[in-house]
Amino acid sequence: MDDELDVSKFSSSVWKKILKIILKQKWLLISMMLVMACVALLDVLTPYLMSKTIVVFFGENPDFSLKYQYLLYFVIIAVLYMILIFSFIYLAGKLEVYTADKLRQETFVRLQELSFSYYDKTQAGWIMARLTSDSRKLAEIISWGMIDFIWGLATMSGILVMLYITFWRLALIVTALVPIILIFSTLYRKVMLNAQRKVRKTNSQITGSFNESFLGAKTTKTLVLEDKQNKEFTDLCFDMKKKSVRAAVKSAIFFPTILIIAYIGVGLTYRFGAGFVMGEFAGLIITADVLFLFLDYTTMFFEPVMNISRFFAELQQAQASAERIVSLIETKPDIVDRDDVIKIYGDILNPKPENYEKLIGDIEFNHVDFGYNEKGLILKDFNLKVKAGTSVALVGATGSGKSTIVNLLCRFYEPTKGEILIDGKDYRNRSIGWLHSNLGYVLQTPHLFNGSIKDNVLYGKKDATIEEVMEALRIVRADEVVKKLDDGIDTQVGEGGNKLSIGEKQLISFARAIVKDPSILILDEATSSIDTETEVLIQDAINKVMKGRTTFIVAHRLSTIINSDLILVIMDGEIKEAGTHSELLALKGEYYNLYKNQFINEKMDNMIS
Ligand SMILES: Nc1ncnc2c1ncn2[C@@H]1O[C@H](COP(=O)(O)OP(=O)(O)O)[C@@H](O)[C@H]1O
Ligand SMILES: [Mg+2]
Repeated sequence: MDDELDVSKFSSSVWKKILKIILKQKWLLISMMLVMACVALLDVLTPYLMSKTIVVFFGENPDFSLKYQYLLYFVIIAVLYMILIFSFIYLAGKLEVYTADKLRQETFVRLQELSFSYYDKTQAGWIMARLTSDSRKLAEIISWGMIDFIWGLATMSGILVMLYITFWRLALIVTALVPIILIFSTLYRKVMLNAQRKVRKTNSQITGSFNESFLGAKTTKTLVLEDKQNKEFTDLCFDMKKKSVRAAVKSAIFFPTILIIAYIGVGLTYRFGAGFVMGEFAGLIITADVLFLFLDYTTMFFEPVMNISRFFAELQQAQASAERIVSLIETKPDIVDRDDVIKIYGDILNPKPENYEKLIGDIEFNHVDFGYNEKGLILKDFNLKVKAGTSVALVGATGSGKSTIVNLLCRFYEPTKGEILIDGKDYRNRSIGWLHSNLGYVLQTPHLFNGSIKDNVLYGKKDATIEEVMEALRIVRADEVVKKLDDGIDTQVGEGGNKLSIGEKQLISFARAIVKDPSILILDEATSSIDTETEVLIQDAINKVMKGRTTFIVAHRLSTIINSDLILVIMDGEIKEAGTHSELLALKGEYYNLYKNQFINEKMDNMIS
């Protein structure tokens, strides 16, 4: 998506935002500047001291009584260098760690706030790349680049001052080359940048592809797509190689060219300097030690110029990273609370639960329109009224809109038109945090966090006692599963809970929803991966858990649906039939057909198994 951003221009607004983050470390920056200024001062003073040494010991009147004094000078310089080099490596390292950390935190916070729709549109690989490689790269370039830059500026100014003080006529030669180098590097930078940008784009495709292949590894195997995927990946890698080599060649040309310009400068200084030494120019004479000092300074002079231009080149390279990170940090979640709502209830990261009203559980969809995108509406003028404590079952074909209805109720998405009332008030009048803290939701594809089973249940209610955790597990019959595991509830579930089967994951996430004691409970095909035997067992639990709460259950199995107070048959986003099990059977309509076809099969399955 944002890879398409035009990064050939230097965008100061992006850097201003990054700078704002770094400037929070004022003291670190100030110490870095001081240290680098000292380094530059030493760098500039050393050739001067050298040239003085030559005069004192090898000049016309050598004075050896000064030898210890000069030795001391050099020892002091060496010690100072040691201290300064240690300090700047330490400071830059610290700034790098801080910056990477800060960027990751800011992006992470934003990721927490973004709504479902963002994750629909955005590849996990893309986000991972922002969190890992972009933030690292940016931090590295900023901190070490800053060192180069400060040192470069200080050294350049120091040398120029020394050159002009010593012999301004020769200093002019050096000065004349500065604009040439700056202009050349600015122009050439663009070329390098473009090449670099192409590499990054391919790299992000490769990351995406990796990610796809991890997440879809099993699917790939069952569909025997390995060959196709391999071929696509090989093409991508080939592309990457080609573009990387091209970018490498382009940046390899850069520094030698600068060096050529620099050595032209050194050559000219030689030529004219020697001329001055030999008195070629109207009797203006300099001594050999001054010429050596000049040559020293001239050679030294181009290093900081190159450093500075490299700093800008790297900044431009990193601009793509910076823009992507800033774009992520600045992405506005689609679903946010209004300011007046935040004032009362707080925002997601700083909630004010003391102001939360008790959620009773009356629910009303009032003329709700909804579509995921411009392509069309999934729900059109959808109306539904449910009293608190009612259990509602949604049945219907895949794609008919069942999940959409419950996702709207959870405010993972909001109606495009119309309103959803909870306890008689549009739910947008209260905070997302308020709703979600009263909501238990078990997904079709359960997700557990890396950690133990206990940790995962505690995500539902962080101050739950161990008894509450055990009770929740017992209600959903997960205690049986837990008992079989080596470490009981302290068993690590692995990343995404992948050490457990989907059915087990579902039971744990069910327990996690229940421990919260939510007013609204939503089970979206939550039992689809649980085997029939276990389901019969937890059916009893579901019935118990449903008491006193508004429950929405999306399920295929008759046993889960049959006891619901209200069954809705959903077709193409509309309520086709509504009523209790017996009412709907008596209708002899869609539900009756479904019942006959699907539920009877299920019964037969049960009998066979
Ligand atoms: N995140 C999404 N983005 C775009 N379209 C979606 C998204 N989720 C579901 N849909 C579409 O909305 C319709 C209803 O889907 P859904 O509510 O998931 O059905 P069900 O849960 O009944 O199987 C389907 O046509 C589906 O393709
Ligand atoms: Mg669904």
